[in-house]
Amino acid sequence: MPVYKSLIKPLLFKLDAERAHHLVFDNLKRAARLPGASAALRGLYDYQHPGLAREVFGLKFANPVGLAAGLDKNAVFTDELATLGFGFVEIGTVTPRPQPGNPQPRLFRLPADEALINRMGFNNDGAAVVAARLRQRRNRQLIIGGNIGKNKDTPNERAGDDYVAAFEALAEVVDYFVVNVSSPNTPGLRELQDKAPLIKLLQQVQERNLARLTPRPLLLKIAPDLTDAQLDDILEIARETHLSGLVATNTTIARPGSLRTPAATVASHGAGGLSGRPLRERATEVIRYLHQRSQGQLPIIGAGGIHSAHDAQEKLAAGAVLVQLYTGFVYEGPGLVRQINESLLAAS
Ligand SMILES: Cc1cc2nc3c(=O)[nH]c(=O)nc-3n(C[C@H](O)[C@H](O)[C@H](O)COP(=O)(O)O)c2cc1C
Repeated sequence: MPVYKSLIKPLLFKLDAERAHHLVFDNLKRAARLPGASAALRGLYDYQHPGLAREVFGLKFANPVGLAAGLDKNAVFTDELATLGFGFVEIGTVTPRPQPGNPQPRLFRLPADEALINRMGFNNDGAAVVAARLRQRRNRQLIIGGNIGKNKDTPNERAGDDYVAAFEALAEVVDYFVVNVSSPNTPGLRELQDKAPLIKLLQQVQERNLARLTPRPLLLKIAPDLTDAQLDDILEIARETHLSGLVATNTTIARPGSLRTPAATVASHGAGGLSGRPLRERATEVIRYLHQRSQGQLPIIGAGGIHSAHDAQEKLAAGAVLVQLYTGFVYEGPGLVRQINESLLAAS
């Protein structure tokens, strides 16, 4: 029985979800400073094999299993996360200016569903501080994605300026960018997924990007709540603005009737994005749709309810080239990364 699920998780799940998160990662950072600890963590969790390497949008990933945005919003733990075997880590969402996010509590567990509901609201240290931190990181092999957003108090009409500011601040220190217009927790943000504002926004960022000596792959992260017609629009916009790929998907605002957690409990948590197992099927459906409609021409990073090697394989079979974990990592622990990589290798 893995130590995380039998010993650590039961204790952590007694604590407030956000407190547990800080406890885990602050302690991971402290532990990793002890002599020999990084090597020990690597020995336990890291799994390297040339057969796992992938080249996607011009970047070389040591393996296709990444950490989804939101867990290391401020790029504090990238060196430690590298020891846990991730092939890439997406930091952020980072906004140009620091902001506190929504009042706590804002992160809730639905253990019966192996799910989370969050309305964090882009709490982050701001692009300049995050960029400075990334300049200090020791592990230079790990691919870093920069997930960018707008500040809460910036009106949508000026959203483009915020995305450009965050992009400029991080351009030298991340390997690829993700424009996040799909978080449900910044009022009005998802309206930026509509055709006209989205084209304008992406063109504004892409113009700056392509003017650089070394343009970065630019991706768009989308919600699982879009209709097929909206997904078709996204593909057209992706072509028109020369995106390198899509991240599918973010959390859902839906509360499926199939949830095991009593409806009253779910409702008591209030608004926010649902992630984890209940999102798995819809996220896979979105990936499959995008992959088929684009004839496999647009690389997709698949996220949403990956809690096992089988779930990861399912996302890849649907057309994803890389996968990302968040909620599955919370429920299953760090061993999940290795488990997925071992099974991918065995299946190859
Ligand atoms: C607590 C929490 C915070 C998140 N914060 C962000 C974020 O800042 N930016 C973002 O693009 N996605 C964010 N996400 C969404 C995840 O990156 C991921 O797309 C989603 O949770 C689906 O994957 P999962 O089911 O494996 O969690 C967050 C998810 C959770 C649970």
